[in-house]
Amino acid sequence: MLIKQAERIKSSEITPKEVYMNRRALMGAGAAAAVGAMLSPMSASAATLSFAKSRAPAPAPITPKEYATGYNNFYEFGFGKEDPANNAQGLTTKPWSVVVDGLVDKPGTYGLEDIVPNALEERIYRLRCVEAWSMVIPWVGFQLSDLLNRVGPQSGAKFVAFETLVRPDEMPGQRGLFQSIDWPYREGLRLDEAMHPLTILANGMYGEELPNQNGAPLRLVVPWKYGFKSIKSIVRITLTDKQPPNTWNMLLPKEYGFYSNVNPKVDHPRWSQATEQVVGGGLFAKRQDTLMFNGYADEVAGLYAGMDLVKNY
Ligand code: MTE
Repeated sequence: MLIKQAERIKSSEITPKEVYMNRRALMGAGAAAAVGAMLSPMSASAATLSFAKSRAPAPAPITPKEYATGYNNFYEFGFGKEDPANNAQGLTTKPWSVVVDGLVDKPGTYGLEDIVPNALEERIYRLRCVEAWSMVIPWVGFQLSDLLNRVGPQSGAKFVAFETLVRPDEMPGQRGLFQSIDWPYREGLRLDEAMHPLTILANGMYGEELPNQNGAPLRLVVPWKYGFKSIKSIVRITLTDKQPPNTWNMLLPKEYGFYSNVNPKVDHPRWSQATEQVVGGGLFAKRQDTLMFNGYADEVAGLYAGMDLVKNY
């Protein structure tokens, strides 16, 4: 599906400044539902990125687009922060299909145009990388629950597994030195996390089509978890009864867990998670305190009631 915006939208227009300066977490479930209700249907085949703009309070200033699209982690394109922007431009993203399988009523290979609904929303979310840097990104997309409800999870489904494309000829990080990594990049969520209204699949950002380096044409965004859970360029979604493997846990199990909820009180074995560097915040920007569940505790803490978050890191 070709997507481009109908009109150019400046970040400053997305949310009034006095609202986005308010540090409260954006969009609880209620606000999201209200935005959804405002949407006007559009043909999925139309070459236009159409979405409802958020009027809900957003996190601190939106990261300048050049940082969000120029400082990336996407190891399929190399391990340097500029490698994805430099190396991902040749990735073929059209046509694109996603296999949906496992414990679902309607398994199949779906074209992107069948996955992405007519009604898109903008969600301005914090992104907190496990490496202790952060951004605030205006995503465009739809709730993962929307897709899961359409394919019908069966009663035995407890988890959702995701896989990224494997294409070594277009992904230099999958060749040479790094071919020892067990590609595809894999991630997973518990079904209730996947169904949570804050969990989205994004096909755009900053009012435009998702750039390749950010995970075109379809990526996950789970704002209360460390960024590595937000898997890019998804080609497979599997409903399963077992906790799925996730790449960073497979590589370094003592350092990266399955849950990976943002938690300032549980340090990474090699560094503190209490504070974060705001990317694009200026040369002299001070580190800011990291918030429990990345500022989304009101919405998601209930998912982990009674769980030991040190053990389940
Ligand atoms: N998805 C894939 N397939 N490969 C990756 O290397 N990196 C993750 C995540 N998704 C990664 C991925 C990490 S570590 C982070 S912090 C985010 O993507 C970064 O997203 P961004 O580059 O859009 O900011």
